[in-house]
Amino acid sequence: MRTRGAGKRGRRRRQLECVPTPHRTQAALRMSKSRVLTGITTSGTPHLGNYVGAIRPAIAASHAPGVESFYFLADYHSLIKVQDPARVQRSTLEIAAAWLACGLAPDKVWFYRQSDIPEIPELTWLLTCVAGKGLLNRAHAYKAAVDRNRAEGEDDDAAISAGLFMYPVLMAADILLFNAHKVPVGRDQVQHIEMARDFGQRFNHLYGEPASRAYFTLPEAVVEEQVATLPGLDGRKMSKSYDNTIPLFAPRGELKKLVAGILTDSRAPGEAKDTEGSALFQLYQAFASQDETAAFARAFADGIGWGDAKQALFERIDAEVAPMREAYEALMAKPGEIEAILRDGAARLRVRHATPMLQRLREAVGLRDLSQVPVANARPAKKDAAAATPVFKQYRDADGKFYFKLMQGERVLLQSTGFASPRDAGQRIAAIKQGEIGDGASEFSLGDGVTDEEVNAALAAFVAAQLDGESGKA
Ligand code: TRP
Repeated sequence: MRTRGAGKRGRRRRQLECVPTPHRTQAALRMSKSRVLTGITTSGTPHLGNYVGAIRPAIAASHAPGVESFYFLADYHSLIKVQDPARVQRSTLEIAAAWLACGLAPDKVWFYRQSDIPEIPELTWLLTCVAGKGLLNRAHAYKAAVDRNRAEGEDDDAAISAGLFMYPVLMAADILLFNAHKVPVGRDQVQHIEMARDFGQRFNHLYGEPASRAYFTLPEAVVEEQVATLPGLDGRKMSKSYDNTIPLFAPRGELKKLVAGILTDSRAPGEAKDTEGSALFQLYQAFASQDETAAFARAFADGIGWGDAKQALFERIDAEVAPMREAYEALMAKPGEIEAILRDGAARLRVRHATPMLQRLREAVGLRDLSQVPVANARPAKKDAAAATPVFKQYRDADGKFYFKLMQGERVLLQSTGFASPRDAGQRIAAIKQGEIGDGASEFSLGDGVTDEEVNAALAAFVAAQLDGESGKA
């Protein structure tokens, strides 16, 4: 009888009598989480539109099981638009504080600042070298700037920085570095995600080994149609470029004043009002339950006065925002804590994803260790890493814990979490070698860009090699 930690904890075991079929280990390896990533440009003060359209849904989504969330402050992107250093800093602080105050848990999701991850600009260059200039010429933001120049009789590229032109490449690096599957964005960003797919695909195609190893996951844009836009004070989309925003954490008195300034028609109290096309109504709907919204619609039909409607809207928004506002003010009073949270997030993320991924990519493009160049007459290096028999490697990390990896050539297929003793790690390896994968989820994860199928194939090869060895001995 074997007693294994795994069994004691009641994990379901799977016995693989022979070579595992993909079907068998597939269920076992369904631990790879779906990665959701989005960036927030640090060029303004968070407003209600950002909250309803991005912050609130993102934080709600981050609680879903099976999701690994990445939320970051896109401060490099902000430099394209904002060249006032104090404003960049201020906005970074306000946005970070806003996300934290709204309930983002930095120990549950990756929360970081783009400029704390040097692998992002490094990858930007690698992607720049595969990105088609013609594709970048067609980017909406760049084209709009050219069109404006033409309309004004200027040179096409007058006052357009290369930063604006390269914006989609930097954004692709943000996404591809972490092999994100889903990218929640506004409509206006969908083209950028398509470009990220294009660059990723080109890279995969150029540097990938036949069939087996894709470097980048091709991301998908997720556009939440329902919450996409909130109207601003003037009824147009709430946006800082229209100067019609309501700051998310405006003090109560200011919030009340701003709500009072929302554009309405001139119908008098007692006259029925249209909900259709009413900014006031849409704002209310964004903060109220279905029942409350239905009641508000009846009040419109019954001729509620605009003053009363505004008061109701103000109360509704304030009820949701007030507790977060308090948390926000407390955070804003301690910027050092926010700095520490961001740095910690970036440091952990680099160790876990960014640094190993970049290492792989450098290797892929030929930025390699020269001592590994085969010298004349030496045995040629094995060409097809994908065909190499996988091996388990055990090691102890700086945290004092014991880890293992399943490696195939240079690639990490599985990465374990830390075990208290080398024996625990060894037993887990022995169990996997026996084909007992368990549900695995809490003990190991897939390497960057590795698919379940690849691990299944590798483990199958592994078991087959073992069986070969055994029959050889017999
Ligand atoms: N360009 C995005 C915006 O303006 C911000 C952003 C930067 C982003 N990098 C990203 C969004 C990566 C999603 C993924 O909204």
